[in-house]
Amino acid sequence: MALVTSKKMFEMAYKNGYAVGAFNVNNMEIVQAITEACREEKAPVILQVSKGARAYANHTYLVKLVEAATLECPEIPIVLHLDHGPDFETCKACIDGGFTSVMIDGSSKPFLENIAETKKVVEYAHDHGVVVEGELGTLAGIEDDVCVEFGKSSYTQPDEVEEFVLKTGVDSLAIAIGTSHGAYKFTPEQCTLSPEGILLPPPLRFDILEEVSKRLPNFPIVLHGSSSVPQDYVKMVNENGGKMPNAIGIPEHELRHAAKLSVCKINIDSDIRLAMTGTVRKYMSENPSHFDPRQYLKPARTSIKELVRHKLINVLGCNGKADECR
Ligand code: G3H
Ligand code: 13P
Ligand code: ZN
Repeated sequence: MALVTSKKMFEMAYKNGYAVGAFNVNNMEIVQAITEACREEKAPVILQVSKGARAYANHTYLVKLVEAATLECPEIPIVLHLDHGPDFETCKACIDGGFTSVMIDGSSKPFLENIAETKKVVEYAHDHGVVVEGELGTLAGIEDDVCVEFGKSSYTQPDEVEEFVLKTGVDSLAIAIGTSHGAYKFTPEQCTLSPEGILLPPPLRFDILEEVSKRLPNFPIVLHGSSSVPQDYVKMVNENGGKMPNAIGIPEHELRHAAKLSVCKINIDSDIRLAMTGTVRKYMSENPSHFDPRQYLKPARTSIKELVRHKLINVLGCNGKADECR
């Protein structure tokens, strides 16, 4: 099946209470792991490419890898999406170069500038059959070369969303309700200690999500920064020469809840990096004489595949939904 837009996926996800996984891709093994898991679980999927990924791997290589996945996995609908498009030119290059969805991230700009830039991208994208994600509110953490400090993030203001969507014509909206990018989402001071001695992060602001959804009925909402930072992989990294103290993510049950509401797209990148890095570190520790990259990338690819399978079934709820999303 050729690449598709996310229109039908979001329509069905909204109606049937699940979310589609948007996984960042940077190389062949990551593309293969995600799409094999989705094929086996019959799940629709969004493969997303950041500005950093385009700089690392080259736009053409990434597009061709994703096109290869559509040939290998014809049973599932696949979207190719630009993650955090920084400006009109980057969005245009991706639209012209085969992407079926782009994000224009004007969230750090003043409201009216964000509207103007997003509208410009929407006009060009819609003329070319491509859908657009906009963003209101800023997440803490690092994305590409933008780093937002913990105290400088800001929740989405619900009273801005109707005007933004109406004036820009965006197809989906990313909002800030307390998620953040990277593997260090919360400081220990922000967390409370459970009776079992586990650090519990502050709960997501579901009140903001509900208020936004009231103002935008039937409109797909996107959550960025939604890795859960599995502690098994943090442990694997730390036991094999790594140092990732206090890496904390979003509890999976909160994401599952969001997916049942108006959240139709959930972005996951750091968990993939963590699974890959943990597995490679462990392999290297256990096999110090091995030097063939295929030897350590193979188990890393398997770890990502199993991680994605877990997300599809237990977090997103989009397993078995490929057919209804065509
Ligand atoms: O939100 C950002 C994504 O995790 C992409 O990260 O800019 O390092 O490719 P990157
Ligand atoms: P994580 O860093 O939580 O995986 O978020 C990824 C993301 O939002 C990509 O846009
Ligand atoms: Zn993001």
